[in-house]
Amino acid sequence: MGAEKPVIYVVSENPGKLREIRFVLGKFGFEVEPLRARKLEIQSDDLEEVARVAAESLLGRAPEPFVVEDSGLFIASLRGFPGPYSSYVYRTIGCEGVLKLMRGVEDRRAKFVCAAALGFNGSVSVFRGEVEGAISEEPRGRGGFGFDPIFVPLGHAKTFAEMTLEEKCAVSHRSKALETLAVYLLERLNLHR
Ligand code: IMP
Repeated sequence: MGAEKPVIYVVSENPGKLREIRFVLGKFGFEVEPLRARKLEIQSDDLEEVARVAAESLLGRAPEPFVVEDSGLFIASLRGFPGPYSSYVYRTIGCEGVLKLMRGVEDRRAKFVCAAALGFNGSVSVFRGEVEGAISEEPRGRGGFGFDPIFVPLGHAKTFAEMTLEEKCAVSHRSKALETLAVYLLERLNLHR
């Protein structure tokens, strides 16, 4: 009989994020369990601080190990906007609104950043991942979620929304943060891959 898979609880209600988190952590042998829990959501320009404070607010209340993830899109010519406010900006003006702000703008450089906070053994560690890229001229593709239809990762022609889950997860900010987190946790659980 095979050993049971170690479980990681993930505090997110975004099905797109959960799908990616399950895919990436699954490669390291983890079983992902979504967890509904009220966490503290502070306003800060620093994604890592947002994720850390949210995770700390769950210590002692959530089963461990658990992950709280915060991410955002940072557009160079808009001085990093929408950054930590990406979720609000997506809900209000969406991809079309961002494309309007970028109309006629030559410098289309942008990056996605992810801060994944791990609650384990009563303390919190934060892991960061980034992917550089550019804002497309128009939305393309039907996959993914959020700003995926307008983000083209550096060195690629497709937007995230035109990529398969595997293709996006080979380069994404979320995968990079979670891969570091998974290696760290496996070491601490003494379960080397
Ligand atoms: P939060 O991390 O739940 O605060 O949400 C950040 C927001 O950034 C999301 O609502 C999306 O609009 C956007 N976002 C974060 N990661 C991604 C991604 O991988 N693809 C597309 N949009 C993303």
